[in-house]
Amino acid sequence: MHDTLLLFGATGDLAQRYLFPSLLRLLGDGLLPEDFRVRAMALSPHDTEKFHDILRPRLEQALPQASRDDVNNLLDRIDYRSVDLRNPESIAEAVREFNDRRCVSYLSIPPGLYISTCQGLALGGALSAPHRLMLEKPIGSDSASAEEILQSIGALIDEDRVFRIDHYLGKAAVQNLMALRFGNTLLEAVWNRNYIESVHILVAESDGVDGRDSYYSRSGAMRDMVQSHILQLLCLVAMEPPASLEADRIRDEKVKVLRALRPLDAAHAARDSVRGRYVAGTIDGQPAQAYQPPEGSEAETFVGVTARIDNWRWAGVPFHLVTGKRLPERTTRIEVNLKPVTHWLFERPDRHAAQPNRLTFQLQPQENIQLGLMSSLAGPEWGALELQPLELELSVPTGLHRRIAYERLFLDAFNGNHALFVRDDEVRAAWAWIDSVSDAWKAADLPMQPYPAGSWGPQQSHEFLPEALVAENRVETGL
Ligand code: BG6
Repeated sequence: MHDTLLLFGATGDLAQRYLFPSLLRLLGDGLLPEDFRVRAMALSPHDTEKFHDILRPRLEQALPQASRDDVNNLLDRIDYRSVDLRNPESIAEAVREFNDRRCVSYLSIPPGLYISTCQGLALGGALSAPHRLMLEKPIGSDSASAEEILQSIGALIDEDRVFRIDHYLGKAAVQNLMALRFGNTLLEAVWNRNYIESVHILVAESDGVDGRDSYYSRSGAMRDMVQSHILQLLCLVAMEPPASLEADRIRDEKVKVLRALRPLDAAHAARDSVRGRYVAGTIDGQPAQAYQPPEGSEAETFVGVTARIDNWRWAGVPFHLVTGKRLPERTTRIEVNLKPVTHWLFERPDRHAAQPNRLTFQLQPQENIQLGLMSSLAGPEWGALELQPLELELSVPTGLHRRIAYERLFLDAFNGNHALFVRDDEVRAAWAWIDSVSDAWKAADLPMQPYPAGSWGPQQSHEFLPEALVAENRVETGL
């Protein structure tokens, strides 16, 4: 197991909110090596003591149940260096002394700094075998910038020592999708165009852009969420069963899905997509301000887009992908709508009022699986069978056994297991499709639709949102 973490971006929000707390939990549970060490690095000119003073309250806030001893145990293993990520020599100097250990460098920094940071790591000997590299998303902001990063880093370190993170893959609920699909005959039997009418994937957030303006105004929801998390979810729903759980067998199947995505073109942009940006509104009774990116920014905070997978299994089945910030609630769900039964026997309700079967996987905030069935309500007074929708609901017990996504990802990277990391060809294929969407938007001049914070997006979003959400009448959209 690798035993040294070289963490870049150590003062940033991700590191302080998730990465260090994940390490604290792993350490407390005895899952890290005895002599585990962290070199924390960022631009701020702190010394180690000052860095500990900043980190300690963040750890206590993130994990109030952690003991003082556990917190001290982690802090004792962390020292801090100020580095200039634009200067490879400054990086090399900060990492050289760890050359004889087994290092994992973690880049929790803007992708614009990936190349110079990796050059510094290479100069300091931290990219040669057996050292490893973990990279946060996004890898670039389009195909061209991603290609530059992939090639420049690829020249410095072998692919089998690179671990590209999509933290959704580290979520137990997301891994459970594979378990449910491939551990049960029932699902696989209907998992194709013959039985499935449509699939909806929704990642809704009630939080806004909040404090991430400089990144977000250049990115927007499509690049921030669809390119990574949502396309990964789509892959897990749509991929063929892999021959084994070996990392590359899984990744081979995912990349085939991404390559089969039909590019969006300008002629279909208005029918197959909507983009929006929130204006002032109300969430949970509290006023929420509009998102106002700098002049010239094209950043959307809401996307609905229909993806079509041109292969044998999915021909003709639309995959409606939706994500947005400042929506009424935080929920991630996948809804699979089955086709209506082919021959309807029942008088009540008539066939048009019958509700086709629907399978919903709610992944966050709670894990839950719902199966919508039609079932009979004996109607003695009427003298015949009357069918009514029945929800079969399975709450997945979470709690103790569910770890923060980053805990799992750290362990896998320290142990060298690639299955939950994104391979270079997946990154390329995902950007190729995203580029087709942004090009189509530009060519069609697709308008940015405003929506009030606290609504389910612009009016046009109905077409893309999960049908159950719309049917429950919980959906108020638009202005
Ligand atoms: C990040 C995005 O990758 O995922 C954020 O950059 C988003 O904009 C976040 O808020 C959502 O992650 P989670 O785990 O809270 O669903």
